[in-house]
Amino acid sequence: MAKPKIIVTRRWHEAVEKVLLERFDTQINEDDHPMTVAEMQDALRNADAVLPTVCDKVTAEVLGADNIRAKFLGSNGVGFNHIDLDAAKAAGLTVTNTPEVLTDCTADLAMTLIMMIARRAGEGERHVRSNSWTGWRPTHMMGTSVTGKTLGMIGMGRIARAVAARAAHGFGMKIVFHDPFPPSADDLKGLNATQCDSPEDVYAQADFLSLHCPGGPATYHLIGAEAFAAMKPGAFLINTARGDVVEEAALVEALRSGQIAGAGLDVFEKEPAISAELMAMENVVLLPHLGSATQETRYAMGMRVVENLEAFFAGDTPRDKLV
Ligand code: DGY
Repeated sequence: MAKPKIIVTRRWHEAVEKVLLERFDTQINEDDHPMTVAEMQDALRNADAVLPTVCDKVTAEVLGADNIRAKFLGSNGVGFNHIDLDAAKAAGLTVTNTPEVLTDCTADLAMTLIMMIARRAGEGERHVRSNSWTGWRPTHMMGTSVTGKTLGMIGMGRIARAVAARAAHGFGMKIVFHDPFPPSADDLKGLNATQCDSPEDVYAQADFLSLHCPGGPATYHLIGAEAFAAMKPGAFLINTARGDVVEEAALVEALRSGQIAGAGLDVFEKEPAISAELMAMENVVLLPHLGSATQETRYAMGMRVVENLEAFFAGDTPRDKLV
């Protein structure tokens, strides 16, 4: 029997590409360019399965292409706000994502941002590299202690709980959170986390506010001027979730006015574009969406797509089926 035809929209971990090339009739986007709407539509017309990433927008327009051949969309990433699931379902596609395998890696990066912004690590590095350092002195580059502070979390899914575990057990932090769909008591065991009735309760208590909600219309600009005004003066914002949860212009204003002390960001509203104001600020750490970017995790994510793909073509329900 002929192997299913697969189109992979970006370059993947080398070892996963090897597996895809061996097991399927695979076409890879060799030069790794972001694909246009027309290219995505062509991919859907010419393959049995398309494997997008979290940065490929699989909108109703893309999925409205005529003569779609594809029956499977295996997204390489856990977030799925880039895919119009209703339109995908209407077009007869099964869609999967890659939960679980990137939890620890992303939690590690959230802690990295907390530590970097609190201890002025990015700023300090720039200081050293620009030959500005004149030596140790008691008043030099004092930051903010992390140990014992309160970590507020918006969303308490797997990644948030992994961050909470690190923060509570590694740094003695107190955890407060809000989630409209809170986890079970069992899932919260050992985290010493206090559930709040509203996001505002979290804003009012958090020294570090870390975002872990999904992206999409329900959370669009959740963190805007009102949220910043409700935050503790001197608090820090950490975002490893989705860029458009934060209104970037309001963030710039909150930083400029000193309403909050700083921000550690791995995702951006108009990613990869970042406002010039944010780029010029010292009290922000800006990372290029690195949450899951380790060799181990990117391999595991790719292999999770392969697992879903193989289940689908074997006639089984893929483990991570979204629709
Ligand atoms: C995801 O998987 O949703 C991340 O944003 C990329 O790792």
